[in-house]
Amino acid sequence: MKKSKHNKWADHYTLKAKKEHFLARSVYKLKEIQQKYKVIKKRDRVLDLGCSPGSWLLYAADLTGKKGEVVGVDLKPLSNEVSMKLPSNARMYVGDVLSISDDLSELIGGNYNVVISDMAPATTGNKTVDAARSFELCKTALVIAQDLLKPGGAFVCKIFQGEDFKNFLDLVKTGFNKQKTFKPESSRKSSKEMYIIGFGKR
Ligand SMILES: C[S@@+](CC[C@H](N)C(=O)[O-])C[C@H]1O[C@@H](n2cnc3c(N)ncnc32)[C@H](O)[C@@H]1O
Repeated sequence: MKKSKHNKWADHYTLKAKKEHFLARSVYKLKEIQQKYKVIKKRDRVLDLGCSPGSWLLYAADLTGKKGEVVGVDLKPLSNEVSMKLPSNARMYVGDVLSISDDLSELIGGNYNVVISDMAPATTGNKTVDAARSFELCKTALVIAQDLLKPGGAFVCKIFQGEDFKNFLDLVKTGFNKQKTFKPESSRKSSKEMYIIGFGKR
């Protein structure tokens, strides 16, 4: 079967990710955000919400270096490939961000420099439903960020654009000194996903 131009383009990023030993094309999205905004610095403490299969976790741990720390949470465990090469400054917990138990909350701790969320709901194909579920995840990620970030900290959050997109941007505006929206080159053009970045937690 002949491949469409779009598929060829998609394959490019998937192959590039495999070549560099990252499982998901997702890692390029964080790389683009990092190149442009330098959100994660050496020695930072980073919380990665929706971290599985784990490419952001590995990349963030690389950026923070051994004196930094990255903690991930996801409904699903990391892929075997990521688990096998998880560095000592990164760890993850299986859990639901929408209902974090007291025990998990204690393990996650606080005092973070950066909270990143690449969480996505299981998609239904109905853009309105998917965007509403994404909005719920984003609102929860924002509450967690406001709770666990140090003043001045940064927040990166993926949202599926829908009718609540502007509402979410306004919520981020109230908690952070500056905010940007960013659509990575590596994100499929047909995807409704967008990243919102908040700088300088108040
Ligand atoms: C696009 S993937 C993240 C990819 C990841 N950034 C990486 O680089 O490997 C989205 C993740 O969000 C997770 N997720 C969705 N809802 C969640 C919830 N309520 N609590 C925790 N994780 C959730 C999914 O399980 C999925 O692994």
